[in-house]
Amino acid sequence: MKNATLHIEIHISIRALTMFFLKTWRASAFGVYGYLNFTRNGFLEHSKKFQPEDMQMRIEGKNCIVTGANSGIGFATAEGLASRGATVYLVCRNKERGEAALSKIQSSTGNQNVHLEICNLSSISEIKSFASRFSSKDVPVHVLVNNAGVLEQKRVTTSEGFELNFAVNVLGNFATTELMLPLLEKAAPDARVITISSGGMYTAPLTNDLQMSSDGNFDGLEQYARNKRVQVALTEKWADMYKNKGIGFYSMHPGWAETPGVAKSLPGFNKRFSGNLRTSEEGADTVIWLALQPKEKLVSGGFYFDRAEAPKHLKLAVTSQSHVIIDSITDTLRSMLVSSPE
Ligand SMILES: NC(=O)c1ccc[n+]([C@@H]2O[C@H](COP(=O)([O-])OP(=O)(O)OC[C@H]3O[C@@H](n4cnc5c(N)ncnc54)[C@H](OP(=O)(O)O)[C@@H]3O)[C@@H](O)[C@H]2O)c1
Repeated sequence: MKNATLHIEIHISIRALTMFFLKTWRASAFGVYGYLNFTRNGFLEHSKKFQPEDMQMRIEGKNCIVTGANSGIGFATAEGLASRGATVYLVCRNKERGEAALSKIQSSTGNQNVHLEICNLSSISEIKSFASRFSSKDVPVHVLVNNAGVLEQKRVTTSEGFELNFAVNVLGNFATTELMLPLLEKAAPDARVITISSGGMYTAPLTNDLQMSSDGNFDGLEQYARNKRVQVALTEKWADMYKNKGIGFYSMHPGWAETPGVAKSLPGFNKRFSGNLRTSEEGADTVIWLALQPKEKLVSGGFYFDRAEAPKHLKLAVTSQSHVIIDSITDTLRSMLVSSPE
């Protein structure tokens, strides 16, 4: 061997080390907090404080839109609203799955005022055409439930060039809400937008890297958590931006519920927690509660879990400061929405 000197340069960046510990802390804190609260046992414990009369209202004459309503929490939400007399619009991407959900809900609730709208929420152009079709009905929208969501583990790019998780969970959610504002305003002061986020957002601060483009290795779970954080921050932003429009904005976490989405995206988790996951109806409980409560009881911009306002940040997780960049994120989303073709 030549007189070569082996130089091993170890660059330990303090920032990288801090990030590593923070990530580990957030994941551990989330795991413990989640196990204690998000499981079925958590729901049963929290439900001891629920007031049955909160859910006994009838909402005939109210128009509710539920996205991703053909399965899981979205289906249970749509069924719960229809059973209380609302006119419900199911927004689904697949006609057959949508029609099956429609007829199930109509027959289980006896409510014929349930309608199906087809729209793939990963596409801005489809959302624009759905919004313009729907707007021609000229009906007030009392409740918009942004439920449709996806956790795609691999990087997939939509035909419009967006990373798929981002396209559905963030951009689709943003576009649907913004384009429905005129109809929501028609239902003011009773209008509300309820966005289904996730406790997974506790592990992620807000970042401008909306499509996880700067990270070499794509991590679908991390991207999903980031998307869900954006939903919480965006809900705060909307509450502030539109505070004079008579629309309430709420984000919420359904807990860990056994749904087709979880079985498909997180099979290991689904198996590990089998028997201690919530039902879809339990996951939808707080969504329906938010749709029914008098607005004076609710905090616009708030994050809800099990019929109560919940913290948006876990202790020592250092995520709260990150919300300051929501203005620039909102600008980015708006320019994507405006520049996407009809
Ligand atoms: N289950 C949980 O433990 C849990 C926990 C935290 C948060 N969440 C959130 O709860 C919401 C509902 O999830 P879930 O667990 O009920 O899952 P799910 O059963 O997979 O339901 C998701 C719904 O969204 C629809 N969807 C997905 N991509 C769409 C697109 N591009 N266009 C239109 N619709 C689309 C799905 O339609 P298809 O049937 O056509 O795919 C389905 O109807 C999601 O936002 C999820 O992030 C769930």
